[in-house]
Amino acid sequence: MDDLKAKYLGQIADAADESALETIRVAAVGKKGEVALKMRELGKMTPEQRQVAGPALNALKNEINSALIAKKSGLADKALDERLRTEWLDVTLPTRARRVGTLHPVSQASEELTAIFAELGFSVAEGPRIDTDWYNFDALNIPSHHPARAEMDTFYMHRAEGDDRPPHVLRTHTSPVQIRSMEKMGAPLRIICPGGVYRADYDHTHTPMFHQVEGLALDTDISMANLKWTLEEFVKAFFEVDNVELRFRASHFPFTEPSAEVDIRCSWKDGTLKIGEGDDWFEILGSGMVHPSVIAAGGIDPDVYQGFAFGIGIDRLAMLKYGIPDLRAFFESDLRWLRHYGFQCLDMPSLHGGLSR
Ligand code: DAH
Repeated sequence: MDDLKAKYLGQIADAADESALETIRVAAVGKKGEVALKMRELGKMTPEQRQVAGPALNALKNEINSALIAKKSGLADKALDERLRTEWLDVTLPTRARRVGTLHPVSQASEELTAIFAELGFSVAEGPRIDTDWYNFDALNIPSHHPARAEMDTFYMHRAEGDDRPPHVLRTHTSPVQIRSMEKMGAPLRIICPGGVYRADYDHTHTPMFHQVEGLALDTDISMANLKWTLEEFVKAFFEVDNVELRFRASHFPFTEPSAEVDIRCSWKDGTLKIGEGDDWFEILGSGMVHPSVIAAGGIDPDVYQGFAFGIGIDRLAMLKYGIPDLRAFFESDLRWLRHYGFQCLDMPSLHGGLSR
């Protein structure tokens, strides 16, 4: 019995894995194992012999079983340790950037400029892209015979024959939101309205759909100086550089008097667009003091309130800031272009956190 014990405890200690252990178990304490065979011999013994051998065999069987169990759990622990050593995960590592698409430069520029104007006390207003020609033209002091209507290359919505309601248009600018905002909110008022606009026009700085941000500030004591300051502050913050040179050019719009257009100094050398250098000027916005008829069309008394307005080309801002020379590529949905010029979509621009970093 001592030999059996030494043999099996030795084998158990040396077993390399659970299947080796199982083979040992069958050979030692299985139904036809060596211990069972020995137990069968009990019947041939005298009662005195049996009294000694019986408990000893049982003790041997229990000892081997305990050794098997202990070894088995030892092997399992070892296997787990081995897995833990090879399959580990450092939860303090930064996440891997996942491809969830990119933010279009126009969306990025819109969020950036919204952050800047919010800081200056402007809230965001919206209006429909399909509007009546009253909001798009008449209310903005552009009566039907006015040449500005023809100049705008307007897309008119189709009307069924015999339908003689006034026409709807794809808005040619965001200026109609001035009227809607005055109607809704009254004065004093400080809003911007970023959004898409439409004109039949196509070359490397014009596409039939593009984006503007309208601005309107009305109060009892607003002057052209406030307009100039606001635009200069905006441009400085937006381009995040010190040497942006602006040119205010006297201009004419039916809805403002006086009016000014603003250009930025830039260069177009070898197909690359750069701001702050060169001999070219790139027009980015129209602006002026809101015409009294426009204020009246918005339901506000022009003898009490006055203000400034502006309309900035958002796509043009993005072209200048991010050095994108051709506007047409903005709307071609070319994935390579979008990946190259796109932005991380979870970075919200703010003046404190950084606009485009
Ligand atoms: N609506 C004009 C355009 O689309 C831009 C503009 C000029 C807007 C002067 C204004 C403004 O608010 O005051 O060309």
